[in-house]
Amino acid sequence: MIIEPRMRGFICLTAHPGGAAQSVKNQIDYVKSKGAIAGAKKVLVIGASTGFGLASRITSAFGSDAATIGVFFEKPPMEGKTASPGWYNSAAFEQFASEAGLYAKSINGDAFSDEVKQQAIDLIKKDLGKVDLVIYSLASPVRTHPKTGETYRSALKPIGGVYSNKTVDFHTGKVSEVSIQPASQEDIDNTVVVMGGEDWAMWIDALKAADVLEQGALTVAYSYIGPAVTEPVYRKGTIGRAKDDLEATAFKISDTLKDLGGNAYVSVNKALVTQASSAIPVIPLYISLLYKIMKQEGVHEGTIEQIQRLYAERLYTGGSVPVDDKGRIRIDDLEMRDDIQEKVADLWAKATTENLAEIGDLEGYRTDFYHLFGFDVPSVDYKADANEMVQVPSIP
Ligand code: NAI
Ligand code: NA
Repeated sequence: MIIEPRMRGFICLTAHPGGAAQSVKNQIDYVKSKGAIAGAKKVLVIGASTGFGLASRITSAFGSDAATIGVFFEKPPMEGKTASPGWYNSAAFEQFASEAGLYAKSINGDAFSDEVKQQAIDLIKKDLGKVDLVIYSLASPVRTHPKTGETYRSALKPIGGVYSNKTVDFHTGKVSEVSIQPASQEDIDNTVVVMGGEDWAMWIDALKAADVLEQGALTVAYSYIGPAVTEPVYRKGTIGRAKDDLEATAFKISDTLKDLGGNAYVSVNKALVTQASSAIPVIPLYISLLYKIMKQEGVHEGTIEQIQRLYAERLYTGGSVPVDDKGRIRIDDLEMRDDIQEKVADLWAKATTENLAEIGDLEGYRTDFYHLFGFDVPSVDYKADANEMVQVPSIP
């Protein structure tokens, strides 16, 4: 069928398999163009189908010839109805991996559950024996706790008071004032349950208990800090509490891995357009201004450039892993450069509906957003009949 973008609010209800395949291929080509990385050879990626997790899977496979197992939660296609984007990304990834002679299998299910952890362990045992890198890149608004069966929802709220600032509806370009009511204690606690470190630790505990972690195994999860202007709704808001918890969990997991000579890291990444970040008020305006400045300065990166640099210049240099005073890897260094942040702050003060298209990179934001769903990707023929029924080869 002919597949077109169908928007509802901040999400797109359709996805394009051909566009997804092309954008996975573009990421693969980028990684190959940067040369080999002496990285892990058997890699488990939790949250492998989109965003930073997909970029991690691609960098492992095509930078280090790694065998990869990807875990994700995506909707398969139905006759006349497209799959979710991560499904098509994963179908394309497995296809390209297989053409390159690389092992790649995927598990589609709830990574928070005991069942999916067990499936991953069984698959590692059967096919790989052990893994030497575990990437933890989940972004989810809900988590059903495996021990209690209770379902928790995260919130994106400030703590302690109402937060008012500018935001943009990136579809229309309208800049407006938004006020977000403060979180309750329950909102804070729930967000930590969903996006904090508990599940990451549960994964590593389960993998270790099953003896499927290699000597020297590493595990990495992703965090964000960002500028003062987004602090109330991000780093000092509910999601920030979850990131504090995630970062603290890295130290606990490092203890767990000590006898294997392994280590756990949190990498602080750059703000990028993903499904997760488009849903956070204020962030899209910040990103559109940030993109403008970083492109002007020639230091703009997307998910694949970020993760390729994480592997090549932080994790697998042959030397020790450089971290900040809180033990975190920083690949948000270019975003956080003083000169860049000063310029963004100037633009922030000026931004209005009338001038945003000019002073910000609204067009770049929209393009990246459409790319997430496989639309607007150069060289793809969107007028041609697309097969929405594309399957992920390894998923029965
Ligand atoms: P994303 O939405 O692109 O990817 C989320 C992944 O998690 C997908 O593969 C999805 O299928 C999977 N997933 C969600 N719920 C699941 C479940 N219950 N079971 C199995 N898989 C599930 O998100 P993105 O942006 O790549 O985020 C990944 C991490 O990076 C998050 O921790 C996020 O906070 C962090 N990060 C994001 C930044 C951004 O600007 N987008 C910046 C810095 C860090
Ligand atoms: Na991801």
